[in-house]
Amino acid sequence: MGTLTAVFGLIFLLQVSFSIQKSTTEDPYYVAAVVEFAPFKERNCDLCLLTLAQEFERFIKHPNASQVDIMVFPEYILQELAFTFVPSAEEKVIPCEQLDYDYLLTELSCYARTYQKYLVVNVNEKAVCKEGPKCKNGLTEFITNVVFDRKGMVISRYRKTHYFFSEYEKGVLPKPEISTFTTDFGVTFGHLICYDLLFYSPGQALVDQGITDIIYPNYWFQEFPFLSSLQLHQGFAHANDINFLTAGASAPHTQTTGSGIFAGKWGALDQVISEDPDRKMLVAKVPKKNANFKPNPISTSPRYDPLELQARKERIAWKRDANVDHFTTEILETTKSRINKKLCHNDFCCKFDIEMERIDRSGSYLQGYTYRLAAYEGPGTLHRVEKGEFGICAVIACTNNKLFSCGTVFPKDVPHVANDFYFKKINIKGAYTKKDKMIVMPSTVNFAFEPLPADSYKYSKDVSGNVVNFDMTLTKVRSDLLTFGLYGNYYVEKKVKHNVRDEL
Ligand SMILES: *[C@@H]1O[C@H](CO)[C@@H](O)[C@H](O)[C@H]1NC(C)=O
Repeated sequence: MGTLTAVFGLIFLLQVSFSIQKSTTEDPYYVAAVVEFAPFKERNCDLCLLTLAQEFERFIKHPNASQVDIMVFPEYILQELAFTFVPSAEEKVIPCEQLDYDYLLTELSCYARTYQKYLVVNVNEKAVCKEGPKCKNGLTEFITNVVFDRKGMVISRYRKTHYFFSEYEKGVLPKPEISTFTTDFGVTFGHLICYDLLFYSPGQALVDQGITDIIYPNYWFQEFPFLSSLQLHQGFAHANDINFLTAGASAPHTQTTGSGIFAGKWGALDQVISEDPDRKMLVAKVPKKNANFKPNPISTSPRYDPLELQARKERIAWKRDANVDHFTTEILETTKSRINKKLCHNDFCCKFDIEMERIDRSGSYLQGYTYRLAAYEGPGTLHRVEKGEFGICAVIACTNNKLFSCGTVFPKDVPHVANDFYFKKINIKGAYTKKDKMIVMPSTVNFAFEPLPADSYKYSKDVSGNVVNFDMTLTKVRSDLLTFGLYGNYYVEKKVKHNVRDEL
């Protein structure tokens, strides 16, 4: 009897572990995966695409992904390896069955069908064009997200709107595409790709139209103090209280890494930022908007000890935001235990209320950060590619007492980094003039280039006439801050490079 039960039990177990589970419209959550993926470097090999397809499949068929409803891969991991035509959703093409498409598109379509998952991949698209400066031999190029449904059908396509540096060579749409797709588990997703995140359309436009979940393949470049990958991804998700599935390429030695599953005000459900190129899948149960489900976010360790040396990620490359040169700043005096300060840049004012506690580190040789309070409202650049406007109230880390060192991080040849005090509380208030298009996000990042768990700060806004008062409070002790504050992007799109259009 016992043996029989055990045998049936085993059969049952095997069935459960190998069957594909799907969330339905009834479920209060869905299961998402994002894959941090080191780009495919091989060149000039006949079988490159075959190997690459297998790398995709490795994650899609992995037992860890058995419950995954939607899986997102990063931007530009194929590098320049493959260019493919991409059908529009209206064509209702299943490339696994209709073999007019390039190998990779066909394979991915088959994987989506076999493993019954929504797959989001970013490809180099070629498209037929009539004329225009970028129309060469009747073809133009796009950077494109493709979504396959559980039958392998291409149900959505989105072409990147905002190009970064050399991508200007590619084709440009007459106006930004706003692309969405609805799933069988009842969630409608919007698309974004990488640099798009810093502009109103289509990202913020999707949110303002009521989209609550966004997929985001990216190849992000770390920039301090405000635009490191996870810091920005969590900030955008939190300020908008949306689910944000960010899949990042992994090339940390050239500034690129960072993937996560962010659930709005809950913060990160899982995240990764790696020091060396890596391929890693993150899986999480994502709460559907307005459903009754409590997710399991990354939380502040109850044992956080400010006396301990905090983890750093020195092998990840980064750059400094030159806009900092124009900020109004003041060095934070850490000999006092409390600082109450109002700092203004022209008419734009920030209030800081900071409590600190000194740490006795006598005898150990450690180098610590100098902090500055910063206030700024005005023009600047977005990664020095496009012009923008910003409103900023923040505490930022500097490696010495010169302003040019703010937004830089101690390199790995400075082996022992620790501050001789810790923050007990930081409260920052910023009074922003109300605008049609703007985001003011919580911006936090620590020595390990991770945003603070959302349970360690409070972020709120309060509209009063023509003024929006934002409030950001650190509620748990920290000794490893690089940035803490409010990062406002006013979404003014001042094009410095003229995108010439092709006609499709
Ligand atoms: C699968 O999950 C286990 C347990 O969380 C983890 O150790 C492993 O790295 C995961 N494998 C993949 C390919 O994600």
